[in-house]
Amino acid sequence: MPHLFDRYTIRGVTLRNRIVVSPMCEYSSEDGFANDWHFVHLGSRAVGGAGLVLTEAAAVTPNGRISPQDLGVWSEKHFEPLARLNHFMAGQGAVPGIQLAHAGRKASTHRAFPGEPTGEVKPENGGWQVVAPSAIPFSKAYPQPKELTLAEIADLRAAFVIAAARSYEAGFRVIELHAAHGYLFHEFLSPLSNRRTDQYGGSFENRIRILTETAAEVRAKLPDGAVLFVRLSATDWVPGGWDAEQTVELARKLKTCGVDLIDVSTAGNVEKAEIPVGPGYQTPFAEKVRREAGIATSAVGLITDPAQADHILRTGQADLVMLARELLRDPYWPLHAAQALGHATTWPAQYLRAAPKGSTAHAAL
Ligand SMILES: Cc1cc2nc3c(=O)[nH]c(=O)nc-3n(C[C@H](O)[C@H](O)[C@H](O)COP(=O)(O)O)c2cc1C
Repeated sequence: MPHLFDRYTIRGVTLRNRIVVSPMCEYSSEDGFANDWHFVHLGSRAVGGAGLVLTEAAAVTPNGRISPQDLGVWSEKHFEPLARLNHFMAGQGAVPGIQLAHAGRKASTHRAFPGEPTGEVKPENGGWQVVAPSAIPFSKAYPQPKELTLAEIADLRAAFVIAAARSYEAGFRVIELHAAHGYLFHEFLSPLSNRRTDQYGGSFENRIRILTETAAEVRAKLPDGAVLFVRLSATDWVPGGWDAEQTVELARKLKTCGVDLIDVSTAGNVEKAEIPVGPGYQTPFAEKVRREAGIATSAVGLITDPAQADHILRTGQADLVMLARELLRDPYWPLHAAQALGHATTWPAQYLRAAPKGSTAHAAL
């Protein structure tokens, strides 16, 4: 079985190891634009040795932003700073990836910075009317959504397709559709947030339709060498909600739409769910999807220790591991993990004098 520092090739794109920077909102944009913060933040993690660096959720329309400070990609202009960043990251040997998103009923909220206000940003304070499959708010503190019309659903699908095509042109080689954490696609998937009576609601086939259509349309627009991930919440963690069995069935369908890997997370669509949080708590879902749907998966959620990450791969529970908070604590986690596991890995040429003896420099992609 592969280990953490084995290469991973998917659709001709080769990651230098199995370590992925999980998408993390930085709430640091103005009008959706990437800036110096994104360059330093994501660039550091490429220098730090991750195989794949995914951006935070990038909104495909302005009303798809979680907060007014979210990254956005609804115009060609938004890709200019991202293309520069991608050039830098590829030069450090890291594959650039982007997470495309629409926050649905969880849009127009305050950025999640501890100590700052939470909940809805009202239109008079720079917020906006939010949209969702059904007119059901996430919670009392969240905005009241308007139910999407069929024409608006078609426009949204088109927005994802345009953003995906532009992403590839800007140098992203992995495109991830964010269908987890209670945002727009997840809201359609879960019967708790989708009460529609048309072809996008009701039966399982109808609830998954917007996502399978979008994935197939994105795939059709991308070159063969572009890798397509979908992030799913494998369960709502409440009875009667979205669950692991439906996730497996959906993963099978997404595979036929040309999706290459399911990034398996959980939760986010229900305000008060009891979640058994602990080391690697979501990994069993990644394993289940991988085995039962026969598609590559990534595991995420409280993966912090090199041996733990390595074990997930060696036991075939997932093909890649994603780390979020641990990579905030230590952007050089991959370099340190290689030392801990006794693997040779490359270092930035500029830092070789501090690297273990015999290390070589990162090779550009
Ligand atoms: C600051 C922060 C921002 C996040 N933003 C996103 C995001 O934009 N998209 C997403 O899918 N998940 C987001 N997440 C979730 C992470 O990608 C990850 O799934 C979660 O933190 C669990 O992994 P961890 O235990 O390694 O932190 C975010 C997490 C953090 C800590």
